[in-house]
Parts: sequence; structure tokens; C-alpha cells
Amino acid sequence: MANTIGSPVQMRLEAASFCNLRCPLCATTQGHVHQGAVGGGFLRLEDFRKLLDDNPGLERIGLSNTGEIFLNPALLSILELAHERGVELVADANLNKVRPEVLEGLVKYQFRWLVCALDGASEETYSIYRVRGKFANVINNIRKVNELKQHYRSPFPELVWKFIIFGHNEHELLVAREMARELDMEFYPVLNRDPNFSPVRDPEAVRAATGLSVTSTDEYEALHGQSFLEIYCHQLWDNPQINWDGKVLGCCVNSWGDFGDNAFRDGLRASVNTEQIVYARKMLRGRAPPREDIPCTRCGVYEGMRKRGQWLERGARHTVKLIYWDFCSRILRWLPERARRTVKLLYWDFYRRTRRWLPAFVRGAGR
Ligand SMILES: C[S@@+](CC[C@H](N)C(=O)[O-])C[C@H]1O[C@@H](n2cnc3c(N)ncnc32)[C@H](O)[C@@H]1O
Ligand code: SF4
Repeated sequence: MANTIGSPVQMRLEAASFCNLRCPLCATTQGHVHQGAVGGGFLRLEDFRKLLDDNPGLERIGLSNTGEIFLNPALLSILELAHERGVELVADANLNKVRPEVLEGLVKYQFRWLVCALDGASEETYSIYRVRGKFANVINNIRKVNELKQHYRSPFPELVWKFIIFGHNEHELLVAREMARELDMEFYPVLNRDPNFSPVRDPEAVRAATGLSVTSTDEYEALHGQSFLEIYCHQLWDNPQINWDGKVLGCCVNSWGDFGDNAFRDGLRASVNTEQIVYARKMLRGRAPPREDIPCTRCGVYEGMRKRGQWLERGARHTVKLIYWDFCSRILRWLPERARRTVKLLYWDFYRRTRRWLPAFVRGAGR
């Protein structure tokens, strides 16, 4: 597997690095984000337009990283432009504060997937982690999106209820799952990445409620012999993270350094293939020693790999995924705009209806 990549078909592009909440474990709350390479800012419409103009092969963009996308004042125009160009948008958000016209824009411009952070099923429990957040506001916004979806007869955005499992909210897992069903949301329980903050109290009950085989990152690491965060290293190849100002961060874990070029100024393909990022890919695969100027050298995930002498594996699954994305995007590019959108909608509708029957190996390649 090569350490240079082709022109990305999907990427991550931070829309806003500010947030209205103060979740205690979040790097943005702790101040690391604004003091580091990310800085404080919003994606600008002109930069987004240039990126789409220069990269007609882009199919999907993830807009969230360290902040709350709904704080970006240009978001509505960004949604509209992406829709015009047939580029799918996805994001994680806390959804506490959304302007009515932006809520409508999510439906009107067919935002693909919105993952809503909802770690609890009541105001009291939710606000323990989502400091400054209001459970009722999030639920109200979700209900409004559902009404708009009915009004526009649209299945988009698909809504996901993301429940980070803590000791203080595990008793609400089943109620939350039921609420998600009523709100037509996919329920997505995930592990808290810091096992020292509000750890799970009854792992067996959590396993039964979620169907997960592990209930903490410690258990995950003991079972798999690798860091829970190692999956994000693959973003350097498959889904590179670009900052709101065009800096190349590589993955969503890195907020302290960048890889040299600027994706808006120097071109996307060139900037995700600088000497530094190609070197980082070699380092992660254990084929080059650490180097001072490479952000990965200062990352705990890389340090763990070095300590264990166990490197990132880029197996057949990743190669198949890249070839598949490349193949689909080449075909889609030949179609006129309208046909392109219809084909995509039919494909996603088919995928949405059938994915629960797919083997986990294939399903993992979706969202
Ligand atoms: C920094 S947030 C930015 C997006 C948005 N503001 C949100 O909270 O969903 C990026 C992701 O980190 C997740 N996150 C926050 N705290 C976490 C924790 N302790 N463990 C695992 N994921 C966490 C969020 O739910 C979100 O999916
Ligand atoms: S809502 Fe998201 S970005 Fe905001 S503080 Fe919480 S985790 Fe961080």
C-alpha cells in the first residue's frame, strides 16, 4: 500500500472550532485546541467554494472536528453550495442552538447524516457532561427536523443518537434507545475515551443494554492489544482532516501541529501528500523512525504503538475501500448533475434499508 494518496474523494473539513458547551473532557473546553495548530475560527464560504471548484471529484465532507458547526455564520450558504455541487455533508453536533433557517437548510439541502451528541435521556443526566447544554433544546430541534423532513418528504438528514456511555448515564441507556426509536433516529452507543472520568459501574448491564463486547477503552485495549484511538490514524489515508483555515492536520486527534501545506492555497491533493505527511504514514506503519517535525511523534497513540512495537496495519479492507470509492466517484463524475444526485439517493436509500443484514465487515465501510 502506497504512502501517497490520490485526490481525496472524502475528507474532513472543520466548519467551526468554537463551541457553546463546555464538556469537561473535550480538548476545546480544556483550551488545547485554541492554543495549538487549530486556533479559533470558522470555515469561510470563499475557501469552501474554491475547494469544491478545484476538486470536482470530492463526494463527501465531514464538517465537524473540534467545535460546533452550527456556530459558523456562513453555514447555510455552505450547505446550499455543497448541495448544488452534489457533495454530501455529514457532521457530529451538540444541536443546542440552531437558527430556524439552518434547521430548514439541513433538510432542504439534504444534509446526509447528523450525529447528535445526547449522553442521557433526561435533563439532569445529560447536563452532567454536556455542561451549558439543554436536553430539551436538542430534542426540540430534532422534532423540528423531523417535521421538516415530513414537509419536504425527504429522508435526509438521517439522524443518529450518539450516547457516550458513562457511569452517571448508563441507567438511561434503555430509555434513550426507546426515545431514539420514537424520534426515528439510529441509536449509537459509544465508549468514553477517558476511563478515569465517570467510569461504567455495571459493565454486564451495559453490555446487555448496548450489545457491545467491551464497556471501556481499557477493556478494548486489553482485548485488541491496541489503542481505541488507533482507528483515527487511518484518516491520514482515507479521510484526511483539514482545518477551517486550510491547514492539514491529517487526523481528528491532532490539534498541535500541521503537515506543511495549505489545502486551499496549495491544492488538496498536493497538501495531503507533502514530504511530512508521507513520512508520517511510513512512521505509523513502522517503516521510519520518529522525527521531531512530524506531529505524530508527539501523539499518545503513536507512542503506544512504539512501546508495543506494533504498527498500523493497512490491510486488504482499506485497499478495497479506496478502490471502491475511487470507482464510484469516477462513474458518478460522468453523469450530469441531476442524474448524479438521483443515483446517489437511490443508492443510499437501498443501503439504509438493507444495511442491517450486511456482514459487519462490509457495514463498517459505511458511515
Ligand atoms: C469535539 S466534538 C465536536 C462535535 C460536537 N460539538 C459534539 O460534541 O458532538 C467531536 C466528537 O467528540 C465526541 N466526544 C466528546 N467527548 C467525548 C468523550 N469523552 N469520549 C468520546 N467521545 C467524545 C463528541 O460527541 C463528538 O462526536
Ligand atoms: S459539545 Fe462537542 S465541541 Fe462542544 S465542548 Fe462538548 S465535545 Fe467539545
